[in-house]
Amino acid sequence: MESKSLQHKHLLSDEISRKPSHKQGSKEDEQIVAEIMGRCFTPSLITTLAWEEFHFAGHRIKITEATESYGAIVWPSALVLCYFLENNVQSYSMVDKNVIEIGAGTGLVSIVASILGARVIATDVPELLGNLQYNIRINTKAKCQHEPQVKELFWGVDLEKNFPLSSCDFDYILAADVVYHHPYLDELLLTFEHLCKGNTLIIWAMRFRHEKDYKFVDRFKTLFDLEVISDFPSLSITLFKAKRRGRAKMPLTTAS
Ligand SMILES: C[S@@+](CC[C@H](N)C(=O)[O-])C[C@H]1O[C@@H](n2cnc3c(N)ncnc32)[C@H](O)[C@@H]1O
Repeated sequence: MESKSLQHKHLLSDEISRKPSHKQGSKEDEQIVAEIMGRCFTPSLITTLAWEEFHFAGHRIKITEATESYGAIVWPSALVLCYFLENNVQSYSMVDKNVIEIGAGTGLVSIVASILGARVIATDVPELLGNLQYNIRINTKAKCQHEPQVKELFWGVDLEKNFPLSSCDFDYILAADVVYHHPYLDELLLTFEHLCKGNTLIIWAMRFRHEKDYKFVDRFKTLFDLEVISDFPSLSITLFKAKRRGRAKMPLTTAS
């Protein structure tokens, strides 16, 4: 994990460095974070195309990555979310549930949710769909009850056309590390709002990097009841769950 992070450090801005921050966590935090990160094996190859192997839900999951795009590597928030899904199959069962992942990136979270029995739609921007589809196909073939789907979802764009309210009925919306220094925070909020019905549960792993991130969470709380599931200070990651608060209107201003 470490050597790969160091390679990425040169390619990705420091602001969004994948390397965990070294905030002081409790002993319990450090132990569980070590266990979560231990689910990842990284080969020591220096190349723009890479792969990593993950162990979740009783399976080895091989993810093809590329260092050129934020969405083509697996971020620690995705591991936190996978670990949570794997360890909470009773309380948060995925079996036969309708699940959408937004900003799915390489697809690890969608793969784990599919292996755990969900009907998954993994979504991201168009340029990532090829790699996403590839990872999902090779890791779920003959392993899942429901074949996962891959679909374009550019936040805020054509939501009603591509995900009509009348047929949107998701039990879960999954999201890992979707808030960072991109210019689409309004659109992201709009997307959560559009996809989330009264019974939908959002499970969202959020890596905090900037002051702005806390402002996004405050805006999110005007639309959704947000609860912390768990907190990993040594990764600066918080795992949240959220339900919508009724049809409140989205606040219009961008918190910057
Ligand atoms: C930091 S990466 C996280 C990827 C993956 N969830 C993970 O944790 O490994 C952020 C993801 O959000 C996606 N994303 C960014 N802006 C987006 C937008 N406007 N619409 C849809 N997806 C977007 C990126 O393509 C990328 O896959």
